[in-house]
Amino acid sequence: MVMVMAMAAAAAAAAAAAAAAAATMFAAAMMCTVVIAGDPFAYFDWDVSYATAAPLGVPQQVITINKQFPGPVMNITTNWNVVVNVLNNLDEPLLLTWDGIQQRKSCWQDGVLGTNCAIPSGWNWTYQFQVKDQIGSFFYFPSLGLQRAAGGFGGITVNNRDVIPVPFGKPDGDFTLFIGDWYSKNHSELRKMLDQGEDLGMPNGVLINGKGPYRYNTTLVPDGIEYETINVEPGKTYRIRVHNVGVSTSLNFRIQDHNLLLVEAEGTYTVQQNYTNLDIHVGQSCSFLVTMDQNASSDYYVVASARFVNESLWNRVTGVAVLHYSNSKGEASGPLPDPPNDFYYKSYSMNQAKSIRMNVSAGAARPNPQGSFKYGSINVTQMYQLRNEPPRLVSGKRRATLNGISYSPPDTPLRLADLYNKKGVYTFDFPNKPTNSPPSICASVINASYKGFIEIVFQNNDTVMQSYHLDGYSSFVVGMDYEEWTENSRNSYNKYDAVSRSTVQVFPGAWTAVLVSLDNVGIWNLRAENLDSWYLGQETYLRVADPAGYNKTELPIPDNALFCGLLKDKQKAQVPHGDQQKSSATVPGKGKLLLLILLLLTLCFVP
Ligand SMILES: *[C@@H]1O[C@H](CO)[C@@H](O)[C@H](O)[C@H]1NC(C)=O
Ligand SMILES: *[C@@H]1O[C@H](CO)[C@@H](O)[C@H](O)[C@H]1NC(C)=O
Ligand SMILES: *[C@@H]1O[C@H](CO)[C@@H](O)[C@H](O)[C@H]1NC(C)=O
Ligand SMILES: *[C@@H]1O[C@H](CO)[C@@H](O)[C@H](O)[C@H]1NC(C)=O
Ligand SMILES: *[C@@H]1O[C@H](CO)[C@@H](O)[C@H](O)[C@H]1NC(C)=O
Ligand SMILES: *[C@@H]1O[C@H](CO)[C@@H](O)[C@H](O)[C@H]1NC(C)=O
Ligand SMILES: *[C@@H]1O[C@H](CO)[C@@H](O)[C@H](O)[C@H]1NC(C)=O
Ligand SMILES: *[C@@H]1O[C@H](CO)[C@@H](O)[C@H](O)[C@H]1NC(C)=O
Ligand SMILES: *[C@@H]1O[C@H](CO)[C@@H](O)[C@H](O)[C@H]1NC(C)=O
Ligand SMILES: *[C@@H]1O[C@H](CO)[C@@H](O)[C@H](O)[C@H]1NC(C)=O
Ligand SMILES: *[C@@H]1O[C@H](CO)[C@@H](O)[C@H](O)[C@H]1NC(C)=O
Ligand SMILES: *[C@@H]1O[C@H](CO)[C@@H](O)[C@H](O)[C@H]1NC(C)=O
Repeated sequence: MVMVMAMAAAAAAAAAAAAAAAATMFAAAMMCTVVIAGDPFAYFDWDVSYATAAPLGVPQQVITINKQFPGPVMNITTNWNVVVNVLNNLDEPLLLTWDGIQQRKSCWQDGVLGTNCAIPSGWNWTYQFQVKDQIGSFFYFPSLGLQRAAGGFGGITVNNRDVIPVPFGKPDGDFTLFIGDWYSKNHSELRKMLDQGEDLGMPNGVLINGKGPYRYNTTLVPDGIEYETINVEPGKTYRIRVHNVGVSTSLNFRIQDHNLLLVEAEGTYTVQQNYTNLDIHVGQSCSFLVTMDQNASSDYYVVASARFVNESLWNRVTGVAVLHYSNSKGEASGPLPDPPNDFYYKSYSMNQAKSIRMNVSAGAARPNPQGSFKYGSINVTQMYQLRNEPPRLVSGKRRATLNGISYSPPDTPLRLADLYNKKGVYTFDFPNKPTNSPPSICASVINASYKGFIEIVFQNNDTVMQSYHLDGYSSFVVGMDYEEWTENSRNSYNKYDAVSRSTVQVFPGAWTAVLVSLDNVGIWNLRAENLDSWYLGQETYLRVADPAGYNKTELPIPDNALFCGLLKDKQKAQVPHGDQQKSSATVPGKGKLLLLILLLLTLCFVP
């Protein structure tokens, strides 16, 4: 009976949440898998389709969510349960992944090929997860085959619960900006280029919120391009969340004449410091507080420009939006604010990265301070040194490697293979150091020990910037420097207030070291966020198995899990989506909740 009450309460809470968020009610069956009753539910119903857009003046096919490009921002709160019904209206398989959302104890919801079978074209699939003990700015995107290069991304804003203090005053407004390099070729053409052994070359531009640049220069920017405008009031302070959702270009973000007070990086409150500009690498997210303290003699430029490239060649690869005060006296004009000058200050960007530290006294999702986990005094139990190399020929294909391994996803997701005891799908022999053995294409993963403490050192032997991301965790970024990492490099680690984040940059010819507490059971993707490096094989998985096993520390496989590869015979056919829509459309609006509860009772108690 307790269960019934919990269900009904959840349904009522859900109804309220759904009304508040103007989201649709559906997926009653999912309620039977409610794990923690009491935490509210938020429902999203997403149709992922193609649409034509011309962000740089050239019409092309982009990926939209409910006809939006970029997709909607999921505005939720710590510990909420999120239910997302995703309809794949593309002509190819789809998975959405939730960058920075830790999916605690449930890699089943992670939306990458090591944990999930792809949602076939024309099918829908419902994700359900809890944003347990998380707070901050994250984003979602389609994880397969360069689809992110065509869109399909959007924000995840996890607000604090009311009982948790935030280390700054409530801002007067909240903006989310997606910045990213952009190609006029669609993702299938880009994929073909990589398959043929070509390089993607220079992007055609940088988009801000799916829009091209403001016409700051009539030679560089054609007429008639739609650009993004941020409307503000003088004197107010806004939180601006910036996500680099691009393909492979690091971007320098700046707002003309305005200071950017950095307050958060991927879920960690940082020591608050002003920057005139900040490098944001592919896959990274951060929040700034920006005070509208200028005289509004004109609008101001908001710039995201390509970094570490030849700027005279890459001068079109610049995103420009407009910051418009309500009392502005005219349009923005003149040159853009200057980017940093690496010629005179080679370590500018790395020093800036090192200046981003955790505020150890701020509370995060939980009341205890972020600094209460004293990572600096924990002994490392495992160490992996991962060296990338520029793409090269492996078995006749142009591939990218980590420690000589170019990962190739098997047809059967690793986690499913484990559960159903299918041997030989993948191996555990990922080398813990760079080797001299010839490179190979395979599915080799890291055997990580649950409750261990792992040190991962990324060594970038390529000539371009890379960023790496670990699903399921947030990592302490304890050090980075040029040259080769050595044991002595540990002496330079920040053991006190290193920022903890999910995506770290690794400068060319340099290393970055992270420490990770392996407290989340599952199989977790470790990947290059640069789409070309990732597609060409720079990824692996950390298998963090708990000896206590399945359905103890780890949540059981969801009822709606898809099957494929060696397990494809277990997959039932799906009712064509058109029929589902018809039947749900016959339910009158007001009867929906009652029907839902009835359905729940039926589903939960039919043996
Ligand atoms: C991508 O572009 C190619 C060439 O223009 C076109 O044939 C193809 O249909 C496009 N595919 C998608 C998915 O947009
Ligand atoms: C997001 O949710 C928070 C907390 O519920 C609310 O204060 C805020 O107005 C919402 N933001 C948007 C853009 O809807
Ligand atoms: C597909 O969506 C329908 C509603 O449109 C829902 O009833 C059904 O549960 C979904 N199927 C899956 C596998 O999530
Ligand atoms: C750190 O967090 C504390 C607690 O919220 C706050 O009072 C302080 O201003 C923050 N300090 C910095 C430098 O960000
Ligand atoms: C516009 O850009 C071109 C090419 O970089 C440059 O030569 C020109 O001076 C710029 N025009 C203005 C008005 O800044
Ligand atoms: C950041 O700059 C603003 C002005 O834009 C200033 O009011 C504020 O005190 C500065 N904060 C810090 C921590 O330097
Ligand atoms: C507004 O600020 C700009 C830049 O600081 C300055 O050049 C200009 O003279 C100011 N205008 C007024 C009306 O104060
Ligand atoms: C940038 O490209 C231009 C044009 O190809 C070339 O002349 C210049 O030497 C390059 N600059 C650098 C720093 O490589
Ligand atoms: C860490 O290792 C050192 C030396 O091996 C040992 O003395 C110490 O007790 C260990 N600390 C913990 C917390 O296990
Ligand atoms: C993985 O590591 C654990 C220790 O953490 C060990 O017990 C187990 O045998 C290893 N598994 C394989 C397949 O190497
Ligand atoms: C890559 O590794 C080789 C061999 O160790 C070294 O000579 C070279 O300098 C490295 N390049 C970069 C960019 O790190
Ligand atoms: C998980 O464990 C619970 C409690 O022991 C049990 O009722 C449930 O049937 C198990 N679920 C699965 C899928 O094994």
